[in-house]
This record gives sequence, structure tokens and C-alpha cells, in this order.
Amino acid sequence: MSSSKLITKYLETRNYTEELCKPLAIEDYIPQAAEFVSPVKWHIAHVSWFFEELILKKHLVGYQEFNPQFCFLFNSYYQSVGERAVRFQRGLYTRPTVEQVYLYRQHVDQHMQKLLAHTISSEVKALTVLGINHEQQHQELLLTDLKYTFGLSLLYPQYDTNFMLEADHNITHGWLKCDAKLYDIGHQGDEFCYDNELAPHQVYLEEFEISQTLVTNGEYIDFIEQGGYQKVQLWLDDGWSWVCNEKVSQPLHWHNIDGQWHYFTLAGLKPIDKDALLCHVSFYEANAYATWQGLRLPTEFEWEAASHQLAWGKRWEWTSSAYQPYPRYQINEGAVGEYNGKFMVNTMVLRGASVATSQGHARHTYRNFFTPETQWQFSGIRLVRDQINSGKAHD
Ligand SMILES: [Fe+2]
Repeated sequence: MSSSKLITKYLETRNYTEELCKPLAIEDYIPQAAEFVSPVKWHIAHVSWFFEELILKKHLVGYQEFNPQFCFLFNSYYQSVGERAVRFQRGLYTRPTVEQVYLYRQHVDQHMQKLLAHTISSEVKALTVLGINHEQQHQELLLTDLKYTFGLSLLYPQYDTNFMLEADHNITHGWLKCDAKLYDIGHQGDEFCYDNELAPHQVYLEEFEISQTLVTNGEYIDFIEQGGYQKVQLWLDDGWSWVCNEKVSQPLHWHNIDGQWHYFTLAGLKPIDKDALLCHVSFYEANAYATWQGLRLPTEFEWEAASHQLAWGKRWEWTSSAYQPYPRYQINEGAVGEYNGKFMVNTMVLRGASVATSQGHARHTYRNFFTPETQWQFSGIRLVRDQINSGKAHD
């Protein structure tokens, strides 16, 4: 990518973040409804800190930090960078003000443009591309975090009346048969990928059939209404503990109002479209649903092998694969080494992308990962059947 293209891509990404904030009131920037979500103000500052800390402070001669306290406030989990504010208190900081955070963004943008206008090293180029991809990830988190926070309000606030991310339907149907053979897995070529997509390698897969549809809301309502959340035998032990302890009985953002299913969307509270694609289910729910159908979730390798022939990109798709390093995986030196590798425990892989994923951020080899109880992403279910496990009627 040439310098001018890199500057253009950088500015497009930065501008899109601010576009996403345009429907917000100033009060919307502050609250943090749970430890796993972050305030909007924190997101838009943190992505700026990433460029400042990893690029400007090291690679732009004479660069002056906008505010030395910001590293403490807006460092997320980079232990090698230093002390940071505890995560669950991100919503307690009313200062710096939102206005100051926007000035911080301007400061970082001016200096990034200054740096990128000159001949830059391959290291700075790679870090800038990483920073752009990092900001795109936070654009999606900004939306899902905001939806979570708004969703807790009984007033069901509307972010934007036209912003209905739940409306997509299946556009393909049937089952796709994949032969038993060796498949190429992992990222190849010179385009950007995260370190966790490397090294490319081969995986042998037995024959399988993967659904060309994602589970719909109507299909999942059948699971609920036929007692899916009450049948212990459908659930993994951890999942059953989660259902009982958290009193889970439906996907996140769902509400049964006078016997009618509704869901909260960023366009407000809406009656559920039964033909639309299910979202906001955890791995535990996805696995229980598959078990109820007499089927199973794909492994991440089956998903990747089949993905070139699937319609995907509207929902993050839970796989049955634990998030583990690929063969010859290497952790980078310095803070960027903390980006992915240290989370390779107690998390499950999701593949594809979602309707909230920023444009240009999706790849066949992309590996998203979350803990198994995670519901607040736009996560859905795709099923697989084997010859011996071809689905069955549930009692
Ligand atoms: Fe981050």
C-alpha cells in the first residue's frame, strides 16, 4: 500500500468512527453497563492511544503526548506498557470530557498524517495497518457495547431509527457436502492478517455436510417453547450452570411482552421477525440448540474449508473449536505481542463476520474469539451433520 493510500485508509477509518458517534447525545458517551463493555468515550480515546503509544511516541521525532495521564486511562490490557485503570471503572471517569477526547483524536490525526507524509519504515507501515484494523474492531464493539447499555434501559432508547441490524434473512438454502481430504487453513499472501491466522497449514477433515442457512429466530423460538432451557441433557455442564446461575431463558435483548416475542435493536424495541437470522446467543446456547437438533456446530477448520461456498458475514458463527495457536504461531515482540496470543485459553472461536463488522474487515481466515457465555456480539448458529448424525426429531 502506498503512503497516500495508507493516509486515505487511515482517515477513512478515523472518520467512520466519528460518523458512528453522530447520533449520540453527550450523555451516551459515558456509561459502562457491565465490565465487559466499554463507554463510547473510552473506545474513541483508546483507539487514538493505540496510534500514539505504539507509533507516534516511538517513531515521530519530537512527538509530545497530548496528555501523559491518558496512557493510564486508555491503555486496555497491555501489561508491557504499564499501569492502567481497572476495566470495570472505565465508566466512572467523567474527565477528560468528551470534547477533550475529540481534541485528542485531532492531535493524534495531525501527527499521524505528519508521520505518514514522509517515507516510513516497513515497521511503521505495519503498525499503522494494525492500528486501522484495531480501530475497525472497536467500531463494532462501540455498536455492540452501546446496544448492551441502551438495552438495559426500560425506555429502550433509539440510536437511529434506520439502524436495524437484525433484519437479514437467509439467502441460500440446503446442505453443502464437503469431501474428506486435506484442506489449506490459515492466511496466505501479503495482505494484512492478524498473527493468530498464521502459519498456514493443512488439516485433514472427514466428510461432513454444513448448512447453507443460519438458524432463524423462529427456529430458535421452537427450541425455547419446547423447553430447551429446561432440559439439562441438552447442555454442557458449564452451560447448564450458566443457565441456572444467570437465570437465562432466551437470547440477549429478547423480551416476551404479553406472550409476544420482541427484541431490542438500535432502532428501538421491535416485534421479532421469525424469518430473520438469530443473533445474541452464547456458545452454550448454540451448542445446546445443535444438540437438540441432533446435529453439531462446525469446527473452525470445517467452517473455513466450506466458507468459499457459503453465504456468510451477517452473524459471527460459533464453532466448536477452542481458540488455540496454529502450528508455527509466533508471538510478536513488544506490546503488539499481547494483541491475540495471551487470550488462547478458555475462549472459543467464532468465524465469519457480523452485520456490525466494519467494511473491509472480514476474511475467510479471520478468527474471532470470546468466552463461551458471551451473548452481546451479533453471534448466530450454523449447523453441521455427519453421516451418522444426520439430525433427528427432538422429544
Ligand atoms: Fe483495543
